[in-house]
Amino acid sequence: VTRAMSLFAASALSLLAGCRGQPSSDPPIHIVPDMDWQPRYQPQGASDFFEDGRAMRPPVEGTVAVGHLDEDDAYYRGKVGDLYVAKAPVMVDERVLARGQERFGIYCSPCHDNTGGGQGLVVKHGYAIPPPLSSDHTRAIADGEIFNIISHGVRNMPSYRAQIPVADRWAIVTWVRVLQRSQNAKPSDVPANMSDKIEQEAPAQ
Ligand code: HEC
Repeated sequence: VTRAMSLFAASALSLLAGCRGQPSSDPPIHIVPDMDWQPRYQPQGASDFFEDGRAMRPPVEGTVAVGHLDEDDAYYRGKVGDLYVAKAPVMVDERVLARGQERFGIYCSPCHDNTGGGQGLVVKHGYAIPPPLSSDHTRAIADGEIFNIISHGVRNMPSYRAQIPVADRWAIVTWVRVLQRSQNAKPSDVPANMSDKIEQEAPAQ
């Protein structure tokens, strides 16, 4: 009898405690549940229903995310068929060149240095030395191949596909061409009205 009484007292106490208006993490009493609670899976959850044990279904093969069809091979891969495009498939203006210069300074100059000479800081700390970007070899390769090198890397050079969006990769390609031109310029490239501004190199003694 004492046990029944103490149980009664305990439940009466807890009932009283429940009426004191403290905050609670339990859901409020829901008289008409509608469809508020249903059996469902959490994202990334497990399921016995599917053979692979995953509740989330992998997308059907060949699924393309909205806005990522990327059908234009020349623009997105620098290629037409198996051939690299000779010229960047973008309008080149001052804005694109300025963007290319800025992005080159961020992503390429750590190794290739600001002139493309290949003496960047990372190289000075022991990384493989890249060939100068104004070499005959790099001048001769197609714009599409430089785009492809940025996208996928080449031998010792890592890929920058994840860091640099497509439009910026093309902007960088145009800036590489500017560097190459500047490193291989002849006095005759200087406009006539500025030719008096060229400083002659001191003749070797
Ligand atoms: C981590 C250092 C590093 C960074 C950053 C880097 N490169 Fe390179 N790059 C190299 C190295 C090293 C090579 C030589 C690869 C080899 O032949 O093994 C190279 C090679 C190249 C070549 C090929 C040259 C040729 O004639 O074969 C091009 C073009 C090039 N890089 C462009 C770029 C551009 C553009 C960027 C910026 C988006 C960039 N690189 C960023 C290290 C780097």
